[in-house]
Amino acid sequence: MRQKIVAGNWKMNTTPAEGVGLLKGVAELKKEVCACVRLIVAPPYTHLCPVAEAAKGTGIALSSQDCATEAKGAYTGEVSASMIASLGVEYVILGHSERRQYYGETSDTLNKKMAQAFSNDLAPIYCVGEKLEERETNRHFDVVRAQLEEVIFNLTSEQFSKVVIAYEPVWAIGTGKTATSDQAQEMHAFIRKVLAEKFGDAAQETSILYGGSCKPSNAAELFAKPDVDGGLIGGASLVAEDFIAIAKSFAK
Ligand code: 13P
Repeated sequence: MRQKIVAGNWKMNTTPAEGVGLLKGVAELKKEVCACVRLIVAPPYTHLCPVAEAAKGTGIALSSQDCATEAKGAYTGEVSASMIASLGVEYVILGHSERRQYYGETSDTLNKKMAQAFSNDLAPIYCVGEKLEERETNRHFDVVRAQLEEVIFNLTSEQFSKVVIAYEPVWAIGTGKTATSDQAQEMHAFIRKVLAEKFGDAAQETSILYGGSCKPSNAAELFAKPDVDGGLIGGASLVAEDFIAIAKSFAK
């Protein structure tokens, strides 16, 4: 059985105090969610310490939204994977389309970040997804395949077993335009097939999350698809009730 996951990517939102409040709100409502679902929140760096403290004993796991390519040293403004892991954080989001688009992250950058994540026992939530123009010109499968081959194919089988994949079509992020559940299923099945080419049956165990305008009103239909193992939620993860309503789409 693949792990079901609902993860909240808070992006650059909330103050640390608001973040702690949000975590507490999610923790309070967590009992309504099936114990089969792993809840993860990814606050900004500045919030990781207090939110990790507040998350103790709640069963909610923490993720960072990124990590540095290097281990330590003169890299002003960067935050290392070891700093993040030292707070009890378990996951790191890598390759989010906003990092690829606005900060020029390439497969090269991401291979270095992957190495840092694994050296520090952080499980990567690796994001893939095509831009609108790539889908419109029917290149979406090629784009996603390249994003997997250039980074995930460099992992050992043991490393691969820790990876979570998030399919986030760029045209659906923050736009209110969700991929249809059939579009999501089609791409998730493709991703699993590509992963199986390299890692065989282990790909059956990989959790593949959908992200992009996922909300309480569409989560159940998306999560009902056989290869959709949960969601990576942006906007709707900033309201505890909405985040929990999404997670409740998996029946108890
Ligand atoms: P939205 O849910 O706001 O579209 O964001 C999705 C996302 O990018 C999660 O990482």
